[in-house]
Amino acid sequence: MSEYVYNLLKKHHSVRKFKKEPISEAHIKQLVEAGQSASTSSYLQAYSIIGIDDPEIKEDLKEVSGQPYVVENGYLFVFVMDYYRHAIINEDSKQDMRTSFESAEGLLVGTIDATLVAQNIATTAEDMGYGIVYLGSLRNDVERVREVLGLPEHTFPLFGMALGIPGDDENGSPKPRLPFEHVFHANRYDSDKEHQSETLKAYDQTVSNYYRSRTNGERTETWSDQVANFMSAKQRLDMLEQLNKSGFIRK
Ligand SMILES: Cc1cc2nc3c(=O)[nH]c(=O)nc-3n(C[C@H](O)[C@H](O)[C@H](O)COP(=O)(O)O)c2cc1C
Repeated sequence: MSEYVYNLLKKHHSVRKFKKEPISEAHIKQLVEAGQSASTSSYLQAYSIIGIDDPEIKEDLKEVSGQPYVVENGYLFVFVMDYYRHAIINEDSKQDMRTSFESAEGLLVGTIDATLVAQNIATTAEDMGYGIVYLGSLRNDVERVREVLGLPEHTFPLFGMALGIPGDDENGSPKPRLPFEHVFHANRYDSDKEHQSETLKAYDQTVSNYYRSRTNGERTETWSDQVANFMSAKQRLDMLEQLNKSGFIRK
């Protein structure tokens, strides 16, 4: 067995500094096609991909995200959950499909489909020598993103991805992940809190050491610290409202 794909995946780290060099149209097409080869729930293909090289649109999206690499990159993708085409089929159909795509299951299906496409693109882009970073920050202002990208009802911008040739001063490295034993459960979920909390403590130490060595001791936070800070910030609490406005979770 070739370990090529395994080794490529293990090398992943998010890149946030790119050269200005644009990505060729041929590569964009290949990336999207590689994305489309992902499995898709019930063959529904409930996604669209918006490819952005227009500097003004990038600027508008940077205002939403607050992150400079939304503008400074080789190319920008936005991944959209998309039932617009299914809604068109519904208009011509004698059957009622709305209940399906306006339901929570519809939301899960569209989100999973778009995410699988995106990760195929990410891996292919990294194989081509590009770096990538996902951009959940576009959900800071869903209404604005919908307006900037002209998104119709029954579509929803899930996240973006900036990509390009990594800058010469880009020095990211793979971040340690949770230990195999912690995320992998043989046959049945291991909910033993004591065991979970012991492995978390060990992982916290690993992450703290990682930051300490990467920042000359300036950062020493643990994974639990990071997660607690992030998850207590109460961000983007308008998602249900935004989903409703876009035609989702109406059932
Ligand atoms: C759906 C999603 C959204 C993300 N949004 C952002 C973002 O808005 N800005 C950012 O700098 N990184 C973002 N990231 C990157 C994560 O912070 C990153 O993957 C994580 O810290 C692990 O680091 P690594 O990718 O270098 O291994 C996002 C990742 C995912 C999967």
